[in-house]
Amino acid sequence: EKGGFPHYMLKEIYEQPWVLENTLGGRLSEERGEAELGLELDPLSVDRVHLIACGTAAYAGWYGKYLLEGLAKLPADWEVASEYRYRDPVVDGRTLAVAISQSGETIDTLEALREARRKGARALGVVNAKGSSITREVEEVLYIHAGPEIGVASTKAYTAMLAAMALLALWFARARGVLPLEEARTLIREMKKLPRLVEEALEKRPIVAHIAEKYHQAQDFLFLGRHVQAPTAYEGALKLKEISYIHAEAYPAGEMKHGPIALIDEHLPVVVLATKGPLYEKTLSNIQEVRARGGKVIAIATEGDEEIRKLAQDVVYVPEVHPLLSPIVSVVPLQLLAYEVAVLLGRDVDQPRNLAKSVTVE
Ligand code: F6R
Repeated sequence: EKGGFPHYMLKEIYEQPWVLENTLGGRLSEERGEAELGLELDPLSVDRVHLIACGTAAYAGWYGKYLLEGLAKLPADWEVASEYRYRDPVVDGRTLAVAISQSGETIDTLEALREARRKGARALGVVNAKGSSITREVEEVLYIHAGPEIGVASTKAYTAMLAAMALLALWFARARGVLPLEEARTLIREMKKLPRLVEEALEKRPIVAHIAEKYHQAQDFLFLGRHVQAPTAYEGALKLKEISYIHAEAYPAGEMKHGPIALIDEHLPVVVLATKGPLYEKTLSNIQEVRARGGKVIAIATEGDEEIRKLAQDVVYVPEVHPLLSPIVSVVPLQLLAYEVAVLLGRDVDQPRNLAKSVTVE
């Protein structure tokens, strides 16, 4: 049932190209420059979005915030559901609560959603599991169609959630008249390339395995990224913690000088998301700061970037894509890194200690 793979997690990592076909398939019209989501919700009835979720799904929400604000000019906030549900959030009838969940059963997410609804919010689910509890408590569901995810560490559901966030942002952006047709078409063409680009990123596994070999004895890892790659950094750190039990922290790279830079020494591997995009040059400066303090830099960079080789000890190249979509491609080597490190350390990859696939208790 693992399809020839030693672990479900690895199988699910490799399923991502077709998962993205499923998530995006039939939902994009290049000619019209539209995302066709079949939602009855009137996009113009929404003034702000609250993205609520836990763990990996919450990082998809963080990414969603950047896209909803950047592309659709729609105020959006993301928050972990366990905080949202108890902090008395300000919500009204023009707020759309978006509950993001692979299982659709996470109790904190469900309760946060109920809290938003009690206060009058509209509700949309971005969910994988058909007919799950969350899907029964929202007005509408945007299914991510990732297929069953068995490995406890979420991988394919994450990339599918990111793709769903891109669909939702495109849908709002076009309805709100803030994204010109040609720009929408360009974005759609790039979205359609994602399955193939993720396939190419998967081919980098031998390079990632070599990096894992080099660093699997490290006590700590730091992950850095900016803008849409900040959530990617957090997701990379979470994956590594969950399955290898190595301490890993993530920071938005610009925040490093406000504290975490004190951690850097020659024993600390620092994974930097340094793909091409508006903040690329600033990310290079962050890499220089790490190097100046002896830190070991593992860069995730855009294919063809020669400059980065001079700065980082190790580079994993990923194919070029629209900068707003780069997390969907860049997270793949981070999933593989966590996997390879965990295997080298002899961990139980599919059933890490203390974790369950769906968290139905508070
Ligand atoms: C990460 C992981 C957890 C879940 C979180 C939310 O690999 O598995 O952080 O992402 O518990 O689960 P769902 O998406 O089912 O609500």
